Amino acid sequence: MAVTQLGYLGIEVQDLDAWRRFATDTLGLEVREEKGADGSLLLRMDERHHRFFVSPGGRDDVSVLGFEAASQAELDALAASLEASGTAVAWGSEADFEERRVVNLFRFQDPNGIACEAYTGPLVQRDQPFRSPRAIEGFTTGDQGLGHVVLFVDDLDQSMRFYMDVLGFRMSDWVRPQPERSAGSATNIAFFHCNPRHHSLAMLAVPTPPRRLHHFMLQVQTLDDVGATYDTCKAGGAPIELTLGRHTNDEMFSFYMGSPSGFWVEYGYGAREVDDATWKVELHTTGSSWGHKPPAA
Ligand SMILES: [Fe+2]
Repeated sequence: MAVTQLGYLGIEVQDLDAWRRFATDTLGLEVREEKGADGSLLLRMDERHHRFFVSPGGRDDVSVLGFEAASQAELDALAASLEASGTAVAWGSEADFEERRVVNLFRFQDPNGIACEAYTGPLVQRDQPFRSPRAIEGFTTGDQGLGHVVLFVDDLDQSMRFYMDVLGFRMSDWVRPQPERSAGSATNIAFFHCNPRHHSLAMLAVPTPPRRLHHFMLQVQTLDDVGATYDTCKAGGAPIELTLGRHTNDEMFSFYMGSPSGFWVEYGYGAREVDDATWKVELHTTGSSWGHKPPAA
């Protein structure tokens, strides 16, 4: 029993128009659908119907983490695991399945109050290929899911127990400290995988987090698409928050941009992958081999 990927991500944003421009013109995601009632955007990055939904609201933060289970039996086992841990699960309705384009789902909350959903049977539309509005090759997804999220949590030990013991994530490694991110020498960032992607989830505990989502990461298929997107940001697409660099642990070549919601988006290429049969947890004292610096003023 374990989740197999971070399959979809919901975010709530104050400025939906800014997000429509940012998601398409800068990130290269395709608007799959604009929903009638509240104007939510469904965004596409691969053969799935959508992997992001962006809803208008008062927060600028993650609204839903969507975790995939490989089958109904696995989804049932996941629900049982959550209930055994004392976490309430609420099975969705037909309307919920239609909204998310999945066969079945249930809702629950993580120890930080982050709304989560576990689902099985996502709508896959290979007959309607993904078309980025930008001239990029596309994203590395598939069995690796949409990318990764890095979360501010209240209590690292508690969140680790939840995501590892209950949802089945495995430890990838640790990075501590990260003075280049002004995170303070006591800050531990813990990285977790649920498939070959080095991390689908990372987390750090901070006393008063400004929001739950520090950043999400999109991985593209060519180094040139990272460079071209860097240029797009510098031409006004989004502020550069950390310059081009190479991460120590997943060896991702990437940079970080600011989103219209304040949280960041990492745009990267070339991460190494995890094989659970041979993987060994590592400790890193810095997040980056080079680069990933705040841009010069
Ligand atoms: Fe990242």
